[in-house]
Amino acid sequence: MSEPISEQTFDTFEFRRALGAFVTGVTVVTTIQPDGSPRGFTANSFTSVSLDPPLILVCIAKSAASHAVFATTNHFAVSMLAGEQKAVSGVFASKSVDKFAQVSWRVRATGAPVMEGAAATFDCRTHDVVDAGDHIILIGRVVDFVHTNSSPLGYCRGAYVNFSLSQDALAATGARAQVGAILEHRDGLVLLETKNGLQLPAGVKLEPESDAGSLRGVLAKLGLTAHLDFIFAVFESGSGPSASVHYYRGRVSSSLAAMMDSAIHIVPLPRIPWSELRDDAVRSMLQRYVRERSEDAFGIYVGDTEAGQVQTLATAH
Ligand SMILES: Cc1cc2nc3c(=O)[nH]c(=O)nc-3n(C[C@H](O)[C@H](O)[C@H](O)COP(=O)(O)O)c2cc1C
Repeated sequence: MSEPISEQTFDTFEFRRALGAFVTGVTVVTTIQPDGSPRGFTANSFTSVSLDPPLILVCIAKSAASHAVFATTNHFAVSMLAGEQKAVSGVFASKSVDKFAQVSWRVRATGAPVMEGAAATFDCRTHDVVDAGDHIILIGRVVDFVHTNSSPLGYCRGAYVNFSLSQDALAATGARAQVGAILEHRDGLVLLETKNGLQLPAGVKLEPESDAGSLRGVLAKLGLTAHLDFIFAVFESGSGPSASVHYYRGRVSSSLAAMMDSAIHIVPLPRIPWSELRDDAVRSMLQRYVRERSEDAFGIYVGDTEAGQVQTLATAH
């Protein structure tokens, strides 16, 4: 006779704190109720489940006022909030009776209500509802989706995390600054040929595009539009008067082939001619980037346990 497995009793508060170490995005889950009015709540329990068929899930507390509506709906939508939408998260996490009156939203062609300005939205048919403790797991089959270049809103340890490219910190560092970008394009990295050897695109500040001295202005002059994902490195320049150096990681989102400057070289990561990069700090930063890239820090897993493979987002030759 086997002993019954005794249930571990957790300190729920500590359990929640431990779970809070997992960094997530923030979503608003919405649907149209039987009376035709929209209903929604904030959720960070979103998870992608399957690519084929395309499935996602969110978990809803049975104590939530909208639990019964979502447990029985046959369609719902998920809006992944953008960095500047903390207030939208707050509205949908509240018990307010007129949540939709406080935000900008619209109805997709599928009839789903979604948040205006979200980083991505997913329209779903309800695939399954699974009972799970004090929550239900709502599994949706994605029938349509939209995504934008907006930086997403993050959430960790009970606080919002913003990945957006705020200029405030940069402005506070004083007048002298170097703002550059490690940009991938097709199967290589954007390097510029200058009289001082090869360099990464850089300016004295990030924006605006109309300022030829800014990074955006430098890129526009080269015929490149870039999406900058995250800050990759911040350091003080060792040479000359101290300057704050900021490098973003990103990718070219569009290039005007006719305008593409001949100084631009698209160099595959394993073939970067290191000796032609004369700035020691930039060279070692780029070596770290190539190392992390080859270790597949930015890879995505596709497949199943038998036939899984890690695919890189851009192939390094
Ligand atoms: C960042 C954040 C994430 C949340 N994630 C979830 C979640 O995944 N599931 C859930 O049931 N409640 C979650 N909540 C709490 C609900 O949004 C909150 O209970 C809301 O009042 C539910 O709306 P309702 O009472 O109108 O149903 C979250 C709240 C915040 C601020």
